Amino acid sequence: MQRQPLVIANWKMNGDRHLVASMAEALRESAAKHPQVDVVVCPPAVLLPAWQQAAFYDNLKLGCQDVNEHGHGAHTGEHSVALVQEAGVSVALVGHSERRQFYGDTAERIAAKVNTLQASGMTVVLCVGESAQQREQEQTFVVVAQQLHDALQHVEQCSNLVIAYEPVWAIGTGLTASPGQAQEVHAFIRNWLSDKFGPAGANLQLLYGGSVKADNAEQLFAQADIDGGLIGGASLVPEQFVAICNAAQ
Ligand code: G3H
Repeated sequence: MQRQPLVIANWKMNGDRHLVASMAEALRESAAKHPQVDVVVCPPAVLLPAWQQAAFYDNLKLGCQDVNEHGHGAHTGEHSVALVQEAGVSVALVGHSERRQFYGDTAERIAAKVNTLQASGMTVVLCVGESAQQREQEQTFVVVAQQLHDALQHVEQCSNLVIAYEPVWAIGTGLTASPGQAQEVHAFIRNWLSDKFGPAGANLQLLYGGSVKADNAEQLFAQADIDGGLIGGASLVPEQFVAICNAAQ
């Protein structure tokens, strides 16, 4: 079965209303060039209402960069699934390496977030990837398999699940994984998913993230097991992001 290309913008802690307007316009103008590509934008939560207003064209979904695993309550500064849904969000990133490293996303919390999101019917984009040191020590497959196992251990069916492979050493560094390096890990992930979930797992969308730019996107997306990208820095520049969406077509 043909997998739908998917490109996700992760604005991290960047952007403003002006960028929402210019990005929405650029995507609207270019939509005809990438009609088959699913495009998701994950802005900072405070910009979700501006995106809801701006994004009235087809084929764009709103995403959030994280959610709290609890349903509601005394969790100052956090956002529940219900709150982000209120803001029009249908896709959530979980386990981004920046959250794993700096904001307390332990393996247990990530698994709990995946479970909460799955119960809600939202799409989960689970991020996995090894550090530079782990790659040097040839631990890439061990680390990725462990992260997949930990996050998905309570998941029995894999609808609404996307995996993003983001080698930590490639995030925001300009050091992109070569298409061959990325493909090798994506093939490993696809096999792992196939073993756990059967044919449905083998057919999940797998994204590459880590210094994807307009000039390297096409080669990466041409790999057999790479179905699109999770884009950080280049998703803040309308011409770059549009070119990346076009490359996924
Ligand atoms: O979520 C996006 C990734 O962390 C990639 O970021 O494209 O700036 O390297 P980057």
